[in-house]
Amino acid sequence: MTEKKLKKLLQSMSLTEKINQMLQVSGEFLTEETVLTGPMKQKGFTEENIGLAGSVIGVHGAQKVREIQSAYLTKHPHRIPLLFMMDVINGYRTIFPIPLGQGATFDPELSCKCAAVAAKEAAVSGIHVTFAPMVDLVRDARWGRVMESTGEDPYLNSLFAEANVKGLQGETLSDEYQIAACIKHFAAYGAPTAGRDYNTVELSEHTLRQFYLPAYEAGISAGAGLVMTAFNTINGIPASGNQWLMKNVLRDEMKFEGVLISDWGAIEEMVAHGYCENREEAALRAMNAGVDIDMMTGVYSENLSELVVEGRVNEEEIDQAAYRILQLKNRLGLFEKPFKDASVEKEKEIILCEENRLLARNAAAKSFVLLKNEKLLPIRKTDKIAFIGPYVNTRDLSGSWSFTGDSADVKTIEEVVKERFGSSAVCLPGSRMLDKGINLQGFQDFTNESSTREQEQDMLEKAVEEAGKADLVIMALGEHYLQSGEATSRGELEIPEVQLNLFKRICEVNKNVAVVLFSGRPLDLRRIAIKANAVLQVWFPGTEGAEAIIDVLTGAVNPSGKLPISFPYSVGQVPIHYNEYLTGRPFDEESLQERFRSKYIDVPNEPLFPFGYGLSYTTFRISNITLSKSELKAGEKLSASVEIENTGMITGTEVLQLYIRDVVASVVRPIKELKCIRKVTLQPKQKIEVNFVIDETMLRFYTAQGKWESEPGLFKLYIGNSSKSSTCKELMLVP
Ligand code: BGC
Repeated sequence: MTEKKLKKLLQSMSLTEKINQMLQVSGEFLTEETVLTGPMKQKGFTEENIGLAGSVIGVHGAQKVREIQSAYLTKHPHRIPLLFMMDVINGYRTIFPIPLGQGATFDPELSCKCAAVAAKEAAVSGIHVTFAPMVDLVRDARWGRVMESTGEDPYLNSLFAEANVKGLQGETLSDEYQIAACIKHFAAYGAPTAGRDYNTVELSEHTLRQFYLPAYEAGISAGAGLVMTAFNTINGIPASGNQWLMKNVLRDEMKFEGVLISDWGAIEEMVAHGYCENREEAALRAMNAGVDIDMMTGVYSENLSELVVEGRVNEEEIDQAAYRILQLKNRLGLFEKPFKDASVEKEKEIILCEENRLLARNAAAKSFVLLKNEKLLPIRKTDKIAFIGPYVNTRDLSGSWSFTGDSADVKTIEEVVKERFGSSAVCLPGSRMLDKGINLQGFQDFTNESSTREQEQDMLEKAVEEAGKADLVIMALGEHYLQSGEATSRGELEIPEVQLNLFKRICEVNKNVAVVLFSGRPLDLRRIAIKANAVLQVWFPGTEGAEAIIDVLTGAVNPSGKLPISFPYSVGQVPIHYNEYLTGRPFDEESLQERFRSKYIDVPNEPLFPFGYGLSYTTFRISNITLSKSELKAGEKLSASVEIENTGMITGTEVLQLYIRDVVASVVRPIKELKCIRKVTLQPKQKIEVNFVIDETMLRFYTAQGKWESEPGLFKLYIGNSSKSSTCKELMLVP
């Protein structure tokens, strides 16, 4: 539809119709004859506006979507199509590694392909918008939603934000198989105090702009159709009613012109925050901040008409919000094709097809990070191997945001082992997944592992016996998949005690133990890493997880993942991140014996495994960093080259990482900041030179004057294979 027609359409709409566009409800309201129950009435919904809400959350499946859309269009006075939105996070039905795992690939292009497949499967099932990618920066492993992020680094997060928006949206939203992306949660939802979900966020404007905002901006610049508000307050003001954040920063500075949707019930929650007296005031504040859609409460539909009549909200603002929603529908081509790609035939052809599964297997294998390996991996087929641990025989490998996936599509490790090693291979759980009494409120149904004390003892002893007879033991351990995700903050970061006990017993009878570790967050791995001879971090790897794990354990795929987030030594270190500032009393080599230094007296300052770290089955030598010149001016480019050699016996992939440190500036600068990554694959003994291009724009930061600028002076440039690399060259930025 042309802009002109769209504007005309808006003009012909009544105030109520426009406000209805700003309401989002869940599917059950539209599938059944709507009879509102008490609590729903209290939320401000009315039967009339629910039936004509502009968008719906959580309905999927081509047939159902087509039926709902047809019925809706016949009811709607202007035949404006309904928007179908849903959380498609790490895949629709073919499930890819969780976003944190995708971050560990250090391969945004691969993540873009995964997003494109997720979009395709979702599109044929009738979805128009996904609430993804979540690009919140996270430094605190206690926060459960770390699994949905790509980690702690603004640069890496920005690459993934852009790649995911491109993968989901393609060139043009109305094209076949594209869906709209929604950048979330604006802003800084990943920094709740003490890592507790939904908790207060207190950040200086400098920290917010320097570290947290870049990834949102990258997603917005890539053209994301929507942005979602965050549940949290930022420096005292809830994000969903924060005019400065939404108007000044998001709309004016970032030039975001798309639809701003609240998080689930977040407008109403401003009352609970103690920021608004009642729902009417919440509606007013959210309107003033420019929030276009009220997700899952009737706060807007209950109050906006009144507020307009009273002159407290200008109808023009309603028009703008409704128009943005109409524009999104138009960008998706819904006025011409209200069912877009929803097709029962296509669902059969596309969903979970071989090609999609192969991509999932490849992505999973590339997301694994080899944290430790004392010559134990890869395994040899001739070895007598016992596979032990509660992750050996579960299909729950996809993480907690994969509710459109089906665990029936997932093979267990045991099944893959038996296919590849023969039916006599030993596979035993050895223990429960969770300690008894673990509190996963709301999830009891899923986590009910009923077993008696005797059964548990029996399970343990059997595993210990088999482990004693094996040449080597592969232990599949980790967090329960419902221990990370929304509302799963943790105060302890270890795997369940029952599994640690199993691990300890196995280590007593076998000296060759490799651990395959499942988790949605960095865990405190001290007890595991000290004793195990090898540790492979596999996150929640998705539909093809078990195949990918065996691919990597057998060496069919050489691991190449890198940590997108620091793994703390202990929970007391968090929040921890590699790009921290120097203090006035740094604790370093020269000051090891000094008392008054910035350090802990009981644990090291360093994380157990740093950002950017990850091993391979081969080894690499990185040497000879050379700069094409040692001075740089704005507008000029400089090349930094480095040699890398595969010094081992097998082909392998390494991620070269370029970090920069601004030595002195108008505000203190991080010890190091990631500026560039390059993934290279080398044959045994192959040596190549890799070039990075540096220019002045890469040296810019949020200065004391509140501007993104560079400041002349000395910079250090590091190239290596983790954030710990210390070989550097110096470079002067000259005015
Ligand atoms: C989450 C969002 C999600 C929304 C809709 C909220 O609880 O914070 O990330 O998109 O629910 O499911």
